Amino acid sequence: MTDLLHPHEPAASYLARPNQVHRVCLLYSGGLDTSVMLKWIQDEYDAEVVALTIDLGQPGEDYGVVRGKALQLGAVDARVVDAREEFVRDFVAPAIKANAVYGLGYPLFTALGRPLIAKIAVEVARETGCDTIAHGCTGKGNDQVRIDGTVATLAPELKIIAPVRDWKMGRDEEVEYARKHGIPVKGGTEVAPYSIDDNLWGRSSEGRWIEELGHAPDDDVFQLVTRPEEAPDESEIVTVGFEEGVPVSLNGERLDLVTLIERTAQFGIRHGVGIVDHIEDRIVGLKVRDIYEVPAAAILLQAHAELERLVGTIHQNRFKPQVDQQWAYLVYAGLWWEPLRSDLDAYVDEVNRRVTGTIGLKLYKGTARVVTRESPNAVYDAQLATFSESGGLFSQQASPGFIELWSLQSRLAWRLRNEQSG
Ligand code: ARG
Repeated sequence: MTDLLHPHEPAASYLARPNQVHRVCLLYSGGLDTSVMLKWIQDEYDAEVVALTIDLGQPGEDYGVVRGKALQLGAVDARVVDAREEFVRDFVAPAIKANAVYGLGYPLFTALGRPLIAKIAVEVARETGCDTIAHGCTGKGNDQVRIDGTVATLAPELKIIAPVRDWKMGRDEEVEYARKHGIPVKGGTEVAPYSIDDNLWGRSSEGRWIEELGHAPDDDVFQLVTRPEEAPDESEIVTVGFEEGVPVSLNGERLDLVTLIERTAQFGIRHGVGIVDHIEDRIVGLKVRDIYEVPAAAILLQAHAELERLVGTIHQNRFKPQVDQQWAYLVYAGLWWEPLRSDLDAYVDEVNRRVTGTIGLKLYKGTARVVTRESPNAVYDAQLATFSESGGLFSQQASPGFIELWSLQSRLAWRLRNEQSG
């Protein structure tokens, strides 16, 4: 029997035993779970808490308020880190180059954010002398895999606690605990809210009626994107300029990537673009439903994929989606730090060296459709593609000879089968 299997030992080597917890870096959102946690850790472990809130471009968040709340609840230090630039440069840009979508439409905004959040937690924990990192993930989700996995990889000396996995409080008990300890609960306590996670690459809602597969979305879930029914009657065209696979301009205006993503989102929001009603296979085995609002990703990923196909050969274009799919799966699965991911990035970057040009999309009542394409690297020759003429690199008289050889095996096989059955 190894230590790990002893019933009184933690289930994993990186989990903290109570006597190891003295100073905790808590990933703090300001919501109910992590607010209750901030207090609970102080009481349960007799430990100090450093609250850490990370700005990945969550729309409408007031970080001053979040920080104030942490201090009011007894945090010895409350830090807010603006990680938007690092997020878009090191996580979202590679995702765009890899056309990163999991399943049938999840652009991985949460999955991309977690390894960065956990990496910053490691940095802050080390800086502030913490022995433990705490987070608000449940024991049923993917986020615990991404955060625990990152901390265990980057900082084997740090321990982890995830109180929601252990404390067995339901929402009612948490609200009760909050009331007893003077923790403000925003939005009232009557109805359980949707479970929301968001950043500048998208927003997800889970819980409530979303868990009933037969329940079509209630309107109130859409807090970001305009419902297509209410979007303007006039369409609008946006053009996205790319250099080596990364978006650099919007409607001809050069922008840093944070601003470009935020402005693109505004276009999508107005026209109802980027609503995804998604059934998803989680890493921990569960199948769940998420409602996503991904206005920027819906536009930029489509534009990128279109441009990439324009500059790629048929062989590259048949192969790249396999690489992309593997990349998305690793990231979804919390394996950001796995070397295969950076191996794949080497290929993805090589392909993207030629992904320069401009794509125009027409936005209209919930759809984004590519309407214009332009690139100095397009493997496209209007002369050759036209129906009418022959000449240059293409001889129409050569086509029948090609067809004879191209179809040879299929014709032989067809004849054989017919003879055998006849
Ligand atoms: N299903 C998505 C994922 O696993 C979104 C998760 C949102 N996270 C959350 N804690 N609500 O990446």
